[in-house]
Parts: sequence; structure tokens; C-alpha cells
Amino acid sequence: MKLEIRRMVEADLARVVAIENCWDYLSKWGEKGYLKVLREPCLYCPLVAEVESAGGPSAGETGALAGAAVLALMVDRGELCNLMVPPRYLGKGVGKRLLAGCMEVARHWRFSRIFLEVRQSNRRAIRFYRRNGFRIVSRRSNYYRDPLEDAWVMERATAAEPLSPGGSGVLQGMGALPR
Ligand SMILES: CC(C)(COP(=O)(O)OP(=O)(O)OC[C@H]1O[C@@H](n2cnc3c(N)ncnc32)[C@H](O)[C@@H]1OP(=O)(O)O)[C@@H](O)C(=O)NCCC(=O)NCCS
Repeated sequence: MKLEIRRMVEADLARVVAIENCWDYLSKWGEKGYLKVLREPCLYCPLVAEVESAGGPSAGETGALAGAAVLALMVDRGELCNLMVPPRYLGKGVGKRLLAGCMEVARHWRFSRIFLEVRQSNRRAIRFYRRNGFRIVSRRSNYYRDPLEDAWVMERATAAEPLSPGGSGVLQGMGALPR
């Protein structure tokens, strides 16, 4: 499966929300929430993974979305506030490609570390993050609602081993990123 990792645009939002709705336990940002994110390019870098059709994406046309991620651009670090892949694309490396895109953006912003929170019961995600170089650094009590649950805080150095040799290509398609 050929994927393009690129910046999220307004035309993606309905499909991004559809991915979010696949997972009961994810906080629901909805179209409004993602629109806010799109309008704050100095605070957030939202990415999507688009499946490229065999003939290549044609102008003005977008393919299926296989995942989305949002990296918050804090003063001194990146915070991965969202990473999700719909059930039919799980286990095909989409999450890893999106994570690699976020790491590249974080390095571009000269962040030395990326942080994230994850539900303690989300074993698939915790295993995924560990396999991709994150480690648990602390716990946040009662961080999540519906259902109430603690979070693990995980972190990874951006300078550590790149996740995708040769890069995800995410920076090329973005033009000049704010800094
Ligand atoms: C966490 C999440 C983003 C991972 O996404 P993913 O696309 O399945 O991740 P990957 O495919 O890159 O890696 C997952 C597994 O597939 C395996 N895999 C990678 N490429 C593969 C391929 N081409 N074919 C088959 N398996 C593959 C990996 O070895 C990995 O195994 P592991 O889980 O034992 O480590 C996904 O499970 C998800 O969206 N979960 C629901 C939302 C969520 O909880 N998000 C996290 C909130 S903090």
C-alpha cells in the first residue's frame, strides 16, 4: 500500500472525524476541533496518511485516509495529541509512518523531545509507542474522562534512530513551515 503523509486540509475533516469515531475511548474533537487546529499553524501540525491510488493522486481529488495525527508545537517540545488509524488499516505500518512524519516536523522545529499521554488500558498503543522508541516517564492521575482513567506520559528523543530511513517526505509537500 502506497501512502502519502501530508498536512491535513479542510477537505479531509469529515474523513478525519470518521476515523476518530471508530474508537469509542478517544476524546472527540469533531470537525470544529480540527478546524481550530488547522487555523493555528504555529500551534499545531496536523497530518494525514492518504492512500495513493495506483495511478497516483490526480489534481483536486483525494484518496482514502488511512490515519491522522496532530502534533502540538509547544515552546520547547512536541506533544503528540492525537494519532489514530481506522480498524481496516491497522497493523500495516500507517501509525509508524505518521509518527515518523511527526518526528520530522519536531526536528524541523528543533524540539529535542516528543511527549504524549496514553490511557493505561490502551495496551496496543503503549506497545506501539514502546516499539517506536518511547518510554514511560510519569503518570497523570484521572487524566481521561468517559471512562475516568489515569494516563501514562511517554517521551522519546527526536534525535534517536529515525523511524523511516530516508524520511517520510512530509516536509517536502508542506512548503515553508512556520517557525
Ligand atoms: C496505536 C495505533 C495508532 C497504531 O497504528 P498502526 O497503524 O496499527 O501501527 P503500525 O502498523 O505502524 O504498527 C502496529 C503493529 O503492526 C505491525 N506492522 C507494521 N507494519 C506492518 C505491515 N506492513 N504488515 C503487518 N504488520 C505490520 C508492527 O510490527 C506493529 O506491531 P506491534 O503492535 O506488535 O508493535 C493504532 O493502533 C490506533 O489507531 N489505535 C486506536 C487509536 C489510539 O488508541 N491511538 C493512540 C492514542 S494515544
